[in-house]
Amino acid sequence: QERMCLCSSFAFLVPGISLGLEVRQSPSDLFTNPDGKVQVFCTHDKTDFRLMLWYQRSPGDTALKLIGYLYHKAVSMEDQYKDGFDLTGDLGGDATKNGSLLIKHVKPGQSAVYFCAASRAQ
Ligand SMILES: *[C@@H]1O[C@H](CO)[C@@H](O)[C@H](O)[C@H]1NC(C)=O
Repeated sequence: QERMCLCSSFAFLVPGISLGLEVRQSPSDLFTNPDGKVQVFCTHDKTDFRLMLWYQRSPGDTALKLIGYLYHKAVSMEDQYKDGFDLTGDLGGDATKNGSLLIKHVKPGQSAVYFCAASRAQ
C-alpha cells in the first residue's frame, strides 16, 4: 500500500487578526497508511485566542477549504468533513492553547496540506 503524506508543514494566521502569533503545528509532516487514524496538534501561547480553525488544501488546488473550528470547547464542522474528521481541545481558560485535528480513517483523497489558524473571536 502506498503511503500518503498528510502534510501540515505550515501554520498560518488569519491576516489582520493574529499578527505576531506563533503557531506550532506538530507533526510537521506526516506519512501514514490508508485506513490509519492520525491526529495533528496545533499549539500557541496567545492565551486569549480561543478560536482555532482548521483548513485543508488539496494537491493542485489553491483554495483553502474550511474543515471546521473549535471555539472554547465547542466544535463546529463543515458538512463535508463531519464524518471523517473531528476536532478536539479546550481553548477556554488562560493556558497555552492546544487543539487537534483528528482524521478518523485516512483515505487517499485526504492527502493534503492541513493548516491551523488562531483567532480571538468568531
Ligand atoms: C497537546 O495535547 C496532547 C494530548 O491531548 C499532548 O499529547 C501534547 O503533548 C500536547 N501538546 C502540547 C504542546 O502541550
